[in-house]
Amino acid sequence: MRMPVSHGIARNVLDLIGHQPLVALGKIGRGLPFKLYGKTEFLNPGGSVKDRIGPLMIERAEEEGWLKPGGTIIEATSGNTGVGLAMIAAVKGYRLIVVMPDKMSTEKIRLLRAYGARVVITPTAVPPESPLSNYSVARRLANEIPLSYYPNQYENAMNPEAHYRTTAPEIFEALGTDVHAIVIASGTGGTVSGIGRYFHEKSPSTRIVAVDPKGSVLAHYHRTHELSKAVPYKVEGIGEDMIPKTFQFEYVTDFVTVDDRESFQMARRIAREEGLFVGGSSGSAVAGALQWADAHRPPDDANIVVILPDSGDRYLSKFYSDEWMRENGFIDETARVADILAVKDFQPALLSAPSTTTVRAALELLRKKNLSQMPVIDGAEVKGSIAEDTLMREVIRDASMQDRTIQQLLDPPFPVLRRSASLPELMAALKEATAVLVQDEGQAGFVGLLTRYDLLTFLSIEGGESG
Ligand SMILES: Cc1ncc(COP(=O)(O)O)c(C=O)c1O
Repeated sequence: MRMPVSHGIARNVLDLIGHQPLVALGKIGRGLPFKLYGKTEFLNPGGSVKDRIGPLMIERAEEEGWLKPGGTIIEATSGNTGVGLAMIAAVKGYRLIVVMPDKMSTEKIRLLRAYGARVVITPTAVPPESPLSNYSVARRLANEIPLSYYPNQYENAMNPEAHYRTTAPEIFEALGTDVHAIVIASGTGGTVSGIGRYFHEKSPSTRIVAVDPKGSVLAHYHRTHELSKAVPYKVEGIGEDMIPKTFQFEYVTDFVTVDDRESFQMARRIAREEGLFVGGSSGSAVAGALQWADAHRPPDDANIVVILPDSGDRYLSKFYSDEWMRENGFIDETARVADILAVKDFQPALLSAPSTTTVRAALELLRKKNLSQMPVIDGAEVKGSIAEDTLMREVIRDASMQDRTIQQLLDPPFPVLRRSASLPELMAALKEATAVLVQDEGQAGFVGLLTRYDLLTFLSIEGGESG
C-alpha cells in the first residue's frame, strides 16, 4: 500500500493516493445543529475514491501470480476504478481494457483513453446476466485474452479491504470515536463495507449510513433481503442492478434513497457554495446525509462525515450543463413556494419567539440556531419579527435593554404566502421583506419560513446564470 511520501518526493503517482482531508461544509451546513464534514476523495490523483482499491487488488494479484509482467488488466467499471487501474498500468507497464456501460459520461471515456486504456462500451439497459452486460463482457475478454487478469471489484475482497486499511483510519485519525455518522453513497459497497468494518471494531456507536440512488436494488435488499427490479437512473458510480459480493450489509446501520434531481442539484450547490467541484454521487451523499439527519435528529454538535467520492470535471457535459439539466427535466421553470420549501434540505420545525422573550434570550436563541431573524408569534397571532441586527444595535446603545422583552424592538411581521404561491410572487415579497412565512392552503398555522438566502440558493441550483 501507499508509502509515506519521503521528504516531499513521491516515488510515483501511486504514492499520492489517499490522505485526503476532511473539510467543513460550512455553507450547506449553515443553521444545522450538527457539524457536517466532507472527506475530499475527489482530490485523489485520479480524481476519485476508487484510486484506493487498485494498488491493493493488483499487488495481491502479483503476489499470487495471477498477473505477470506484460499482462493485461481487464475491469468492468463505471469509469473511476478504471482510472485508478490506468495509473497503475502506466506505472507498472501493464495493458488495460476497461469495460463500461454506455450511460457513463464521454469525459470518463476520454479520460481513460488519455491514460492509454482501451475502452469497451456495453449497453446499460441489459440485465447483469445478459452476455452483453459489462460484467459478462469483461469476464469473456478475460477468458479470451492470454496473460490477462480480471480484478472484478464486485467480488474482490481487496476492494473493501483498501478502505478498511486507508480511508477509515484517516477518518478515525481526524475525529477518533467522536463521529456520530459516516454517510457513504455506494456501488460495489467497498467504501461502506471497509469503513463500516473498521468503525464497528473501533467505534461501534458510529452510525454507518449508505446512500442508494432511486432505481437501484441495494436499499430494498437491505430492508427485505429480496432482489427487486432495477430501474435506470442517471447518477453515475453508485447503486446496482445486482447484489455485489463485496457489499457487507451487516455493517450498514441505515440506508437512505436519493433521486437524480436531488443528487445533481446538491452537487451543483456544493460547487457553487463551498467551492468544491464534486461529482453527482457527492451530491447524493450530502443530500442523503441531510435526509438521514432530518429523520434521526443527531445530538447538537455531533460530527457527521460524508464521503465526496469523485470530481466534477467528468460531468461537465452532464449535470454541470444547464442545457442538459433542462433537457432531462431537472430544472423546474414553474416552481412554487412549496418546491422551494422542499429543497431546503434540513427543515427544523418553524422557530419563533413569543413577545415576552427577553432581548438577552432572543439574541442567545438567534446565535445558537445560527439565524439572523425570527418571527414573533403569540399563540396563533403574528406580532412581528426580530432581527439580530436591530436587537444588537439597541443593546449597544443601552445595555439595560438586554433584560427587557423584545416587545418594544419588534420589526414588522414577515409577509405570509400560501404554499401554492408562484416564484414571481415570492420574489416580489422578498424584494421588500427579508423573509416570508409559509402557510398551508386553508389552514391557520405556519409550515415554514423562506429567507432571501433560501430563494437565492434555489435560483442558483435551478440553473440561473451565475457570474
Ligand atoms: C463516483 C462514484 N461514487 C461512489 C462510488 C461507490 O463506491 P463503492 O464502489 O466503494 O461503493 C463509485 C464507485 O465506482 C463512484 O465511481
